Amino acid sequence: MKGLILSGGKGTRMRPITHTAAKQLLPVANKPILFYAVEAIKDAGVEEIGIIISPETGNDVRETVGTGERWGVRISYILQDEPKGLAHAVKTASAFLGDSPFVMYLGDNLIKDGVAPLVQRFNAGNADAFILLKEVVNPSAFGVAQLNGNGRILCLEEKPAKPKSNLALVGVYLFNKNIHKAIDEIQPSKRGELEITDAIQRLIDTKFHVDSHVLTSWWLDTGKKDDMLEANRVVLDEMSDFVQEGTLEGNSIVSGRVHIGKGSVLKNCTVRGPAVIGSNCHIEESYIGPFTSIGDGARVSHAEIEHSILRESCRIADFNGRIEDSLIGLNVELTRGNRKPVAYRFMLGDDSKVEVV
Ligand code: G1P
Repeated sequence: MKGLILSGGKGTRMRPITHTAAKQLLPVANKPILFYAVEAIKDAGVEEIGIIISPETGNDVRETVGTGERWGVRISYILQDEPKGLAHAVKTASAFLGDSPFVMYLGDNLIKDGVAPLVQRFNAGNADAFILLKEVVNPSAFGVAQLNGNGRILCLEEKPAKPKSNLALVGVYLFNKNIHKAIDEIQPSKRGELEITDAIQRLIDTKFHVDSHVLTSWWLDTGKKDDMLEANRVVLDEMSDFVQEGTLEGNSIVSGRVHIGKGSVLKNCTVRGPAVIGSNCHIEESYIGPFTSIGDGARVSHAEIEHSILRESCRIADFNGRIEDSLIGLNVELTRGNRKPVAYRFMLGDDSKVEVV
């Protein structure tokens, strides 16, 4: 079994953040989303992983993820020159995949229970493809499956205007070599992409065996800002311990599940978990509320921050106000002169400078 992680695409739904960064490298609880995919695949005992990259963000992905040595896996990078669809990505990876069965994982997806139980079930059974489904409230935004009364898949459609069910295709799939022929037999969809959904439908039409499982635990597709904040909330909520490697000074009070990284100093701060503060941060006279992740090297003073993600090296100086439901890119500078208490919501790309006066 091999692993194939898709980390291409342009991340248009997450601009301006993705003008400068691959969406799969954005942090959830201070860890790039992509790392969760590598770890899930490794935990399933799969050690040979290919990562599909794009010309725009491929180098960043390669530099951030590396050879795989830190996880004890071997990672190869496969360039997909244009975002022509998930099935096109599989085609691009055909030399890497050979005839091996593989688990395909979309690099912006997160699932609670990992993929080990799915890999086991696939290996023990005789399915040619295995898909995961999840009930959602907005099926038109996804691939959608219609099942019969016995749980057998009747048909799959990509982003249908009139969905036949509320069961969305989760971005984790298992295939054997028969998928390659099915991909060769499909045509680009209306959006001009070779859809993996159509390739799986082709397997069904040509009498191959496609098995499915409906997830009951959480699945997150981090395509947009609010999805990222939700992923951050869910992952922080599962954090079980309190880790303090940094220093608390003055009247600092930390309660709940909070991680404070090495070299960080908190002076006269209140932190209420679950929250994670990276290493070498300097935070003063501030309140850090639940579901907040603060990246390495951030500097914050006189601010209240809650339910937000701040990337590395942000500087929030003398803010005198509350920041909530916000995603703040690398190296952002945020200052405010007014002392009237107000709340703001932001989505700020890397290197932004904002002054609220
Ligand atoms: C892709 C698939 C879709 C699936 C979704 C899961 O959509 O085409 O079938 O439901 O991933 O995240 P995309 O993210 O390309 O819009």
